[in-house]
Amino acid sequence: MDSTLTPDERRAASHPPRHVAIIMDGNGRWAAERGFSRIRGHRAGAESIREIVRSAGELGVRYLTLYAFSVDNWKRPTREVSALMRLLATFLSREEAGLQKNGVRLRAIGRIDGLPREARAALGGVIARTAGNTGLTLILALNYGGRSEITDAVRALCLKSARGELRAEDVDEEMISAHLNTAGIPDPDLLIRTSGEMRLSNFLLWQISYAELYVTPVYWPEFRRAEFVQALLDYQTRERRFGCSSANPARQGRQ
Ligand code: IPE
Ligand code: IPE
Ligand code: MG
Repeated sequence: MDSTLTPDERRAASHPPRHVAIIMDGNGRWAAERGFSRIRGHRAGAESIREIVRSAGELGVRYLTLYAFSVDNWKRPTREVSALMRLLATFLSREEAGLQKNGVRLRAIGRIDGLPREARAALGGVIARTAGNTGLTLILALNYGGRSEITDAVRALCLKSARGELRAEDVDEEMISAHLNTAGIPDPDLLIRTSGEMRLSNFLLWQISYAELYVTPVYWPEFRRAEFVQALLDYQTRERRFGCSSANPARQGRQ
């Protein structure tokens, strides 16, 4: 174990969740409270992303999914949407060296075709160039919605059925999972939402069936390594049951 870790970090790293998903919320409120523009809040949020990605890898988390832009976020003012898309491209080019150094593999979920060309190009480039890395898998949810993801999966299955490649009675949960954007990625063990809202906002509706929920009032730009460690320690106190009448360690971390 890494001796540079603090005692709390060492405890968190002793039994980390395999997959952490985060609804990164509160950039706007963080900025408003300081008299800054919302866009400045998003820039500060990007710093938290850098720190949490590094921390997740160092603490032994294998998959980190970050909700960065929802299918409904297009309803925001054009200036804010454009700034977020530019920020994505800048973030990727600035962070690529660090991701490579730490062995991070980048993936994306969501309707990626619907993103502006520059954002898509930046994303595609880093995904391709980090595909061989074997450390943390970082999954960015972009133009993502849980319902649209399920809708797309149903459409794909219907198409296969119409072509005679599939019978209705063959459809099971595994097949549905395999047709989601998250195919091959284990379900999240821990779902974190920052800035206090007690809602899912259309995030990973299928995949979080048995995820442990952790909501903190801290705004995303202030959610840094110490807050992340607290979330992992809180996760360790949870008794996961998966429908059994008592904790069943054999099923912990099941897919
Ligand atoms: C989360 O912060 C970032 C995105 C949704 C892109 P918000 O922008 O939603 O911040 P609040 O919720 O208005 O404070
Ligand atoms: C969820 O946050 C989406 C992201 C974090 C990208 P929102 O701020 O868009 O969600 P609501 O509007 O509070 O439900
Ligand atoms: Mg919000």
